[in-house]
Amino acid sequence: MQTLLVTGGAGFIGSALVRLLINETEWRVINIDKLTYAGNLESLADLANHPRHLFSRTDICDRAALDGLFAAHAPSGVIHLAAESHVDRSIHGPGDFIQTNINGTYTLLEAARAYWSGLEPAARSAFRFHHVSTDEVFGSLGDTGLFLETNAYQPNSPYSASKAASDHLVRAWHHTYGLPTVMTNCSNNYGPCQFPEKLIPLMIHNAVSDKHLPIYGKGDNVRDWLYVDDHARALWLVFEHGIPGETYNIGGHNEKTNLEVVDTLCSLLDDMKPRADGKRYAEQKVSVTDRPGHDKRYAIDAGKIERELGWKPVESFETGMRKTVRWYLDNPEWVAHVVSGEYRQWMDRNYGDRT
Ligand code: NAD
Ligand code: DAU
Repeated sequence: MQTLLVTGGAGFIGSALVRLLINETEWRVINIDKLTYAGNLESLADLANHPRHLFSRTDICDRAALDGLFAAHAPSGVIHLAAESHVDRSIHGPGDFIQTNINGTYTLLEAARAYWSGLEPAARSAFRFHHVSTDEVFGSLGDTGLFLETNAYQPNSPYSASKAASDHLVRAWHHTYGLPTVMTNCSNNYGPCQFPEKLIPLMIHNAVSDKHLPIYGKGDNVRDWLYVDDHARALWLVFEHGIPGETYNIGGHNEKTNLEVVDTLCSLLDDMKPRADGKRYAEQKVSVTDRPGHDKRYAIDAGKIERELGWKPVESFETGMRKTVRWYLDNPEWVAHVVSGEYRQWMDRNYGDRT
C-alpha cells in the first residue's frame, strides 16, 4: 500500500481530496493540518476511524515535526494544500499568509527534499511533490482573454502574492535540486464544507438566516466556478500522471458575475426552501463597500489538462450549485457548529488527543 502526505486535509478542498483518495484509491493518507480557524475535522466525520486515514495536527512551519512524519510514514509523495486562503483576511492581516504560504511551503519543500534525497533511485524518480495553487497569481483579466499556464505572474492581493511566492519556490526546488514537482493553478471552488466566509456558503447561510446578502461594489466582478469534487479529481490525475516540472491550469468554464451567482442561489433557495413570508431571497441583496484592489475578472483556459491528461469537469454550474445548496440545507449542524465555534469541541470529542 502506498502512502501520501496531504497537507491542509481538514480544509474545504483538502477534505474533498482526502475523501476521494480513501473512497476511490487504495492509498493510505497522512492528513497534516494545523487546524486553524479554517480546519474542521467535522468535514471528515465519516473517516474519523478509517484505517487508511491518519490525522496529525501539525504546522507546516515545524520542520522537526515534518521530518518525523516523513521518517515514520515513508510517503511516495505529497499533495500540498495547507494555506491561509481568504483574500479579505489577507487584506486585514497579511502576517499569517506570509508565514504559512511562504515560510510553510519553504519548510515543507526542505523536509520533502531531505527525505527524497535519501530514497533509492526508483523511489526517488517516482516521488511527486504536488503544489496546489490558484489562478489569482496571474492577476486580473479585462473583458476578454483567459489565463494560460504561460501567463506572467501579476498577483494583486497579499494572499495571491504569498501564493505566487510559494509557486516560485516550488519551481526553483525543481529547477535547482531536481525535486519532482507538479503544480496546479485552479479557479474558484464551491461545494460542501466550504467555510462560510467565502461568497457562496456565506450567501446561503445569510439568506436562510434572514440576513443581508452583501455584494461588494456593483457585483460585476467575474469568477470562473468549479465544483470541488471536480478539482479533487483533477488534483489526483495530475499527481499520478502530470510531468515533473510542469504546471496545469484547472477551471470549470463557468464565468459568472457575482450578481449572477447570488441571483442563482436566491432562485434555488426560492424553489428548495421558500421564505415563510412569501418574499423572494433576492430582496435581501445589498451593495456594500468594495474589496480594496478587487480583481475584476478571472477565467481559466483548461485546455492543457484536458488535452494532456483527459480531465473534464463532471458538474455544470447548474448541477453543482443545486448540489451545493442541497448540502447546506441538509447539514445545518455543520454550519451552526462553524458559526458558533462548536466544531472545536466536536474535534476534541471525536479526535481526542490527535487534536
Ligand atoms: P481552507 O482555508 O478551507 O483550508 C486550508 C487548510 O489549511 C485548513 O484546514 C487549515 O487548518 C490548514 N492550514 C492553514 N495553515 C496551516 C499550517 N501552517 N500548517 C498546517 N495546516 C495549515 O482552504 P481551501 O479553500 O481548501 O484551499 C486549499 C488550497 O487550495 C490552498 O492552498 C488554496 O490556496 C488553494 N486554492 C483554493 C481555491 C478555492 O477556491 N478555495 C482555488 C484554487 C486554489
Ligand atoms: O480564484 C481562486 C481563489 O478563489 C482562491 O485562490 C481563494 O482561496 C478563494 O478564496 C477564492 O478567492 P475569491 O476572493 O475570488 O473568493 P471569495 O469567495 O472571497 O469572493 C468571490 C467573489 O465574491 C469576489 O469577487 C468577492 C465577492 N464577494 C465576496 C464575499 C465574501 C462579495 O461580493 N461579497 C462577499 O461577502
